[in-house]
Amino acid sequence: MKQEQSSPWVGILMGSDSDLPVMEEAAKVLKEAQVPYEIRVLSAHRAPEETASYGREAQGRGIKVLIGGAGGAAHLCGALAAHSTLPVIGVPIDATSLKGVDAFFSTLQMPPGVPVATVSVGKWGARNAGILALEILALQDPRLAKHLKEFKEKLRQEVLEKDRQLQKGVNE
Ligand code: RP5
Repeated sequence: MKQEQSSPWVGILMGSDSDLPVMEEAAKVLKEAQVPYEIRVLSAHRAPEETASYGREAQGRGIKVLIGGAGGAAHLCGALAAHSTLPVIGVPIDATSLKGVDAFFSTLQMPPGVPVATVSVGKWGARNAGILALEILALQDPRLAKHLKEFKEKLRQEVLEKDRQLQKGVNE
């Protein structure tokens, strides 16, 4: 399936193109699972009207999950969550001298009623955001549920293989 030809199920938003090297990790996960997505630069601070419109219109366009990534005083995910009832997954980005702690707290500490599912800072978080989006979609999609099961089994096999290699070295 060509992601860009189907209407997107997931919207990946980022505050600036400087966030792209991090947010690409989320896109890779969706691409591997053949989930259609779109990826956009939008900003709660620099393009507030467009961000609000995106949040308001996303569900009507068939989008089921939003993933947002921003650095500094990160309000992109909060703004998306304010304007939508879709699940919003937030990726704090290490963009300033505070090393992502600023974005982490800004993304995480949402008031009651406006949740943002905040993942870890940076590329780990972006990757996990992609996986969490798949887990949400898989609730209604047996193909994706199978994909995730296989993915977890691969993780397990990789750990077991690392242990086998370690034991070989220890016992030599
Ligand atoms: C945030 O400010 C963006 O999400 C980015 O992480 C950071 C720096 O943006 P640029 O100055 O690189 O455009 O809003």
